[in-house]
Amino acid sequence: MKKVTINTLLAWKQEGRKFASATAYDASFAQLFEQQEMPVLLVGDSLGMVLQGNSDTLSVSLSDIAYHTKAVRAGSPNCFLMADMPFMTYATPEQACLSAAEVIKAGANMVKLEGGDWLVDTIKMLTERAVPVCAHLGLTPQSVNVFGGYKVQGRDQAAADKMLADAIALEKAGAQIILLECVPASLAEKITQSVHVPVIGIGAGNVTDGQILVMHDMFGISANYMPRFSKNYLTDTGDMRKAVSRYIAEVESGEFPGPDHTFN
Ligand code: KIV
Ligand code: NA
Repeated sequence: MKKVTINTLLAWKQEGRKFASATAYDASFAQLFEQQEMPVLLVGDSLGMVLQGNSDTLSVSLSDIAYHTKAVRAGSPNCFLMADMPFMTYATPEQACLSAAEVIKAGANMVKLEGGDWLVDTIKMLTERAVPVCAHLGLTPQSVNVFGGYKVQGRDQAAADKMLADAIALEKAGAQIILLECVPASLAEKITQSVHVPVIGIGAGNVTDGQILVMHDMFGISANYMPRFSKNYLTDTGDMRKAVSRYIAEVESGEFPGPDHTFN
């Protein structure tokens, strides 16, 4: 696979070409994904759930993310690699810079932060210091105790307007990718059309520029729980490599996510 950069993704958005991505946590799967030409990988703090068996992402540490980022980078030298900043590692702009340095030094091309317009100064400071940022909006799992559970976000008009305004403010602050989790497709479409940077969705309909799945959900092997918006690609293909290339093909054609995997 040719090296994928932020410019590749921006060009795809401008061409209207949809792209797939997945989480990855180790070198072997990262290599398998690169062999199937998965352009974007994320070392998600979902590793607290799918690798560590916890019920949320809150106990994941910065060194956990750095450890898995090194492994994924070793397996996939050419993907565009994002890595999550864990809970409370970016509470202030200064702390965010020091935390992000660990993730970037481990091999990530971009860090992902959860939150709305309170992140404006943090994103400015990171991007001025050469750390590219993905801003994660909608269902931000680090706020599970504030939300009182994992619920679709942006359903009423006020919340939808706020999310759109946040996305625009975060792009202005310097965010180079927006990620939307569990939002109605109509809102995801509005946000995707309103910002110039690529928008990646999960549980946000087939209207975003890119899609992402937690790899364990793609293979139907997640401990405990399978979100409604995810799809098990292993059942029909019976082979991990075929499952991955089917997922990529269905994202590129717009077939996934279909109505069963979308919130309205
Ligand atoms: O941690 C994660 O895997 C994520 C994706 C679900 C977007 O943040
Ligand atoms: Na995450």
